[in-house]
Amino acid sequence: MSDSPRLPEARLGELIDGLVTRGWHVDTSFLPDALCGALHAELEDMTAREALVAAGIGRGDGHHLRRDVRGDAIRWLDRESQAQRRYLEAMGELQQALNQALFLGLFEYEAHFARYPPGAFYRRHLDSFQGRANRVVSTVGYLTPGWPADGGGEMVIYSPDDGSEVARVRPEAGTFVCFLAETIPHEVLPTRWPRASIAGWFRRNASLGGRIDPAR
Ligand code: OGA
Ligand code: MN
Repeated sequence: MSDSPRLPEARLGELIDGLVTRGWHVDTSFLPDALCGALHAELEDMTAREALVAAGIGRGDGHHLRRDVRGDAIRWLDRESQAQRRYLEAMGELQQALNQALFLGLFEYEAHFARYPPGAFYRRHLDSFQGRANRVVSTVGYLTPGWPADGGGEMVIYSPDDGSEVARVRPEAGTFVCFLAETIPHEVLPTRWPRASIAGWFRRNASLGGRIDPAR
């Protein structure tokens, strides 16, 4: 793997534009192939070692398993490999760009690998609840190369205004989605193929930064 290229300015510009105007952005070639390949291999290895845990919903005492809501297995990134460090470095650049352009006061990024086995899904939800300043911007990077046409597992993005479907994203390696955690409802349709991704969230200190109200 060569040294991680810095995220291209033009790509970042488009992403920021999408967040401001619609509240979401999809880029189908945001992540370098070599980085996706290394992260995918790492996730497959974790799966083989049974190092993933069933994902739950809710935080703290409210955390519980709901296989009728989500069926993925996860492991939090902890910088243990070069590939993880590269991914987090790229997210650090994105955080800086978001703060510079939008004064969001993002101060932290947390992310986990997620693997959805065939049959798994994640019902429509929001990643954060308005008022409880925590997760502000969500990211999902996809890692599975050669996603089959009939593989299912698309991520569906809904309009926060009328709930209609506005985008359907194939979870193909290299694709990256970024959206406002408090306002954009989304869902993972049942997958028919093992589906690998990294879901992450930029968080804000409650006393810092502004809020984007996308001009929809
Ligand atoms: C999530 C989520 C979407 C995806 O983990 O909160 O919505 O496409 N993931 O994996
Ligand atoms: Mn989500």
